[in-house]
Amino acid sequence: MRKVRVRLGPRSYTIHIGSGMLEQAGQIISLLGFKGKAVVITDPVLKRLHSEALIESLTTSGFDATLLEVPAGEEQKSLDVVARLYQRLTDCLAERTTPVIALGGGVIGDLAGFAAATYLRGVPLVQVPTTLLAQVDSSIGGKVAVDHGRLKNRVGAFYQPKAVISDISVLKTLGSSALSDGLAEVIKSGVIRHAGFFSYLEQNTERVKAFDERVLETIVYRSARIKAEVVSGDELDTGLRNILNYGHTVGHAIESVSEFQISHGQAVAIGMIVAAKISNRLGILPQGDLVRMAELIARAGLPTELPAFELDRLVKAMKYDKKVLQGRARFVLLKAIGEVFLSDGVEQSLIEQVLLEK
Ligand SMILES: NC(=O)c1ccc[n+]([C@@H]2O[C@H](COP(=O)([O-])OP(=O)(O)OC[C@H]3O[C@@H](n4cnc5c(N)ncnc54)[C@H](O)[C@@H]3O)[C@@H](O)[C@H]2O)c1
Ligand SMILES: [Zn+2]
Repeated sequence: MRKVRVRLGPRSYTIHIGSGMLEQAGQIISLLGFKGKAVVITDPVLKRLHSEALIESLTTSGFDATLLEVPAGEEQKSLDVVARLYQRLTDCLAERTTPVIALGGGVIGDLAGFAAATYLRGVPLVQVPTTLLAQVDSSIGGKVAVDHGRLKNRVGAFYQPKAVISDISVLKTLGSSALSDGLAEVIKSGVIRHAGFFSYLEQNTERVKAFDERVLETIVYRSARIKAEVVSGDELDTGLRNILNYGHTVGHAIESVSEFQISHGQAVAIGMIVAAKISNRLGILPQGDLVRMAELIARAGLPTELPAFELDRLVKAMKYDKKVLQGRARFVLLKAIGEVFLSDGVEQSLIEQVLLEK
């Protein structure tokens, strides 16, 4: 088992990473000082595949565990579903000291996290992420949210969990496209912060795709460390955390223009290449680094090229992105693999030129 500490003063917490962690969850939560009731929020897929091990571990550690189920899918990230959760938390007599345990991917983490942040002005939250994306990204950093109509993550809070428990074994039941989606954020971690980790990924892509647990543990650990470091330096997203948006300016636009037919990971993969090309055209990023990125992204099972959308629609969508200010596109650019910087002044014409390139 490996541990990463997210250092946020009184809101600090530990990320526990390893195979078979579900079996240890009860003990970890009990050592945090909780006892009595515990509420697990999950979806039917996780309930069937992985809830038994978690509930058993909680029971063995003396918890009286209740499982609340919400259907799977992004549509569940809504205030209606949160309201239903409040009712069910009331029905099972959850108190201010009752831990809420989010067992699932980013949807469950964001939804259960938002409910935990607001029920009784905040009950303790434990994240048990089950997708690669959730283990390396969404469970860390305390952003919890629901969607408002079509506006993603519009209503939310910063609410740090008491612990994150990432069981590598549960990744085995993920499909390969979900794995690739998570890999986009993993590759991003290397690109923004750690050239050595990027090289490790180049050397181990095949082992990751074969669900090699030792390699998966390493990549979750190293990505979590990078995210934890960045979050510790900027809890409320007013500066350093911007670098986590590498590839996301164009990525979000692609997602929304495709009406979410293109997954977040795929969109970010293309967005990372566009940002690298812009950096290269500005004479900042060497061509060799751009080629390495495109090769790794492709080997991870992710797209490197923009699908044939109308450029106008894409550019328009980008104007509504919260990272585009006063017509000037705010971009996280690359100096080299492992080194990014924030630029406020990327010309719209250069972005269009790169988008149109074949
Ligand atoms: N809070 C943050 O900082 C943050 C960061 C990035 C993304 N997000 C959010 O995360 C969400 C996406 O999360 P996701 O990519 O984890 O997808 P997801 O939560 O929608 O999960 C995808 C599907 O995989 C299934 N699943 C989960 N774990 C499984 C497993 N181990 N085996 C088999 N099936 C499994 C789920 O039932 C679900 O149907 C989005 O809503 C996004 O806004 C939040
Ligand atoms: Zn992302």
